[in-house]
Amino acid sequence: VWISERYLKLNESDVINKVAELKNDPSYDVRVQLLLSLYNAKSEKAKMVVNELITENTANDMISFAKSALDRNENVRTFGSRLGNMAANDRNLILAGSATFKSFCSSCHGPDGKGLAIGGTMAAPSLAGSKRLAIADRTTAVRILLHGLTGPIEGKTYSSIMPSMAANSDDWIAQVASYVRYEFGGYTRGVSPVVTPQDVRKVREANSGRDKAWTITELENKMKEEGSVQGATGQTSRQVRP
Ligand code: HEC
Repeated sequence: VWISERYLKLNESDVINKVAELKNDPSYDVRVQLLLSLYNAKSEKAKMVVNELITENTANDMISFAKSALDRNENVRTFGSRLGNMAANDRNLILAGSATFKSFCSSCHGPDGKGLAIGGTMAAPSLAGSKRLAIADRTTAVRILLHGLTGPIEGKTYSSIMPSMAANSDDWIAQVASYVRYEFGGYTRGVSPVVTPQDVRKVREANSGRDKAWTITELENKMKEEGSVQGATGQTSRQVRP
C-alpha cells in the first residue's frame, strides 16, 4: 500500500483497483494504512473504498481515530485553523452568520466590520473589540440584535441607528450573533463563541414586553448585575442570562 502512494496521487486506476482489493484484509494494520493512503486520492473509486472502510469498521478504534484525524486536517485545509478545528455545528452557524453579515450588516458596519463612513460621517461603529461582543457574555449581542441600540456609544453618535432584527428567526439571530462574536469578540480557541437558537429564544421571551431600543447604560447595568463583564477574575459567565 505504501509503495502504491505515488501512483495513487496520479490517480492510476489500475493501482487504485489493485489496492482496493485489500479492503477486507484480515489485518487491521493493512486496512488502516489503506484508509490513510487512499484518503486524499481524488478518484471516485478511492472515495468509495474510503467510505466502505469507515462504515464497515466502526467498531475499530484505530480506523475511527484515523478518520477523525484526517477529517480534521481536511477541515483545517478547507476552513483555516480557527474554523477548521471547531465542531461542525458551530462552524456552520458561524459561516451562515458570516454570509448574512456580508450581505446585510456590512451596509452600515462596513465589509470588515470596522465601521463605514458615508458622506464624511460614520454610519455605524466598528465592531472590532466591542465590549458588547466579549466571548464570556452570550447575552448582550443577542439583546442588541433583538431590540436594537441607540447611541451615543462611548461618547460618539452615528448617522444611522442600529435597527431591531426581531422579525428574523431565532436561527438567523443565533447565526449572526455567533459570527460577530467569533470575528470581533476576541475569540480564543477552546471557548465557543457560539450562541444557540435556544439562547436567542430565552432572551426573546424575557424581553417580550419591550418595544424600544437598548441604551448602552441599560446594557452595561445588566452586564454588571450578571457579572458577565470580564473582570479581574477572568471570564465569569458563559450562561445566557436573559
Ligand atoms: C442601518 C444601519 C445598521 C445596520 C443594517 C446594522 N447596524 Fe449594527 N449598529 C448600527 C449603529 C448606528 C450602531 C450604534 C448604535 C447607535 O449609535 O445608535 C450599531 C451598533 C451595533 C452593535 C453594538 C456595538 C457596540 O460596540 O456596542 C452591534 C453588535 C451591531 N450593531 C451588530 C449588527 C449586526 C450583526 C448587524 C446585521 C445583522 C447590524 N448591526 C446591522 C447600525 C446598523
